[in-house]
Amino acid sequence: MVMQLNLPDINNKINIRRKNILASPKFGGSCDIDSIYYLNKLGVEIIESRQPIQFTPNFGEHVHRWAPYIQGFSSSFVQSVFDQYRKDYKSPVVLDPFAGCGTVLVQSKLNGHKSVGTELNPLLQFIADTKANSWDVTPELVSRLYTSIPKKIKTPAPDFLKSENQFDNRVLKNLELLKGGIDNISAKTKEQKQAQNLILLAFSSILIDCSNLKRTPCLGYWKNKKVSDNAPWMLMKTKIKEICNDLKILQNKHKKNIKTASKVCLANAMDYQHKEGFDLIITSPPYMNGLDYVMNYKIEMAWLGFTKEAKDAKKVKDNLVVCDNVSKGLIREFAQRYSKYTNEWLEEIKSNIRINIGRRGNYRRNDMPDIVHKYFDDMYKVMDKVSKSLNPNGRFILVVGDSLIADVYIPTDLLLARIGSELGLTIERIEKARNRYSGQVRNYKLRETIITLKKASRKRRDNGR
Ligand SMILES: C[S@@+](CC[C@H](N)C(=O)[O-])C[C@H]1O[C@@H](n2cnc3c(N)ncnc32)[C@H](O)[C@@H]1O
Repeated sequence: MVMQLNLPDINNKINIRRKNILASPKFGGSCDIDSIYYLNKLGVEIIESRQPIQFTPNFGEHVHRWAPYIQGFSSSFVQSVFDQYRKDYKSPVVLDPFAGCGTVLVQSKLNGHKSVGTELNPLLQFIADTKANSWDVTPELVSRLYTSIPKKIKTPAPDFLKSENQFDNRVLKNLELLKGGIDNISAKTKEQKQAQNLILLAFSSILIDCSNLKRTPCLGYWKNKKVSDNAPWMLMKTKIKEICNDLKILQNKHKKNIKTASKVCLANAMDYQHKEGFDLIITSPPYMNGLDYVMNYKIEMAWLGFTKEAKDAKKVKDNLVVCDNVSKGLIREFAQRYSKYTNEWLEEIKSNIRINIGRRGNYRRNDMPDIVHKYFDDMYKVMDKVSKSLNPNGRFILVVGDSLIADVYIPTDLLLARIGSELGLTIERIEKARNRYSGQVRNYKLRETIITLKKASRKRRDNGR
């Protein structure tokens, strides 16, 4: 017997979001076609250059593996940049304005290159700094301090974690004892404080594994996840062993690089003026419409005391390069601001988003045109600041993904390349590292791109005057 399909019923079952997606003119579309207009205007081509730029392989690498941070890029990508320009810069000074968990800084130090980073999320700045600047701590000290921590003193968990949603009660009690023990380490010397920080870093890196959550890359609940009561102690033991093992390797194989300077400033890349000049700026900014770097790390930030109340988290978030989870007030205030960066691509994109939101009737955020605008205004400020710190002949390498918002294609990579050229840099190369798919219209093909911008040599710049 053939079953009769009741179409109205099926239609009712397809939710509104899915209907919107199916009705999208971009369904099955591709960034390759939608970029042509912009590429022609820029007079550049995109080169295929498949390579692993995601963080995942770092989980198996010394030091990089100390903190799980899937929003980072791969150390092998950073290494490939150093290898590529080995002849151009004998001992490059390196900058990452969006340091995240410090991939660029750690890889720079492994190569003996001086490096500087800025990072505005205090948790990530702590992680990056600890990863880059604890290489001479004796592993035996870390191990001894950890094994001798008292196991009877509790540091109470942050209030919002006490509901059993994020952690089972018994796991939470063990985390409170573990944190209490770490807080009560008596660290008097500089080395003891560094060792305590390594133990705190280990603690921060096991929290999500101990919770009922997962990060893929956004933080969300994992139904039926089973966490044993003593997971905090078991995971911590493994992590401490991993850190001690890596310290031994660093102190044997990378002895000459241990003292290489590496600085991670807790600062806003939009307004921090560096005193030194850089040969290589290697970075991956937040993606347009991408992750909320505060929401995603709220558990670790609260446990480590970086945020005590919701307003602390909001303050950090409001100052980061914008994402689509910021307060409406912040965007309203931006929209009213008189002076902001713009160009005709951006104005057309904003206008198209506005038209499409009007057509749909509503969208996740009706102020999306201004969010998009703020993203590029924020990025302009960062690019302006850091390109001033680029040495003649220096290169500025950005890894970024494009976006689709309300069915409007946003060539983030090409817009950033354009901003670079407006700031006086040459667009040397635009490479597609991989394809990815839009979170909004699932089978719309997007890309992740490596943009290489170059500053003119001193001679050429002087001739141009
Ligand atoms: C894509 S992640 C960088 C990851 C990094 N490449 C790594 O491998 O760890 C972007 C980072 O930029 C930081 N960030 C965003 N806006 C910032 C700003 N205005 N100043 C400094 N850092 C900022 C975020 O907190 C986030 O850690």
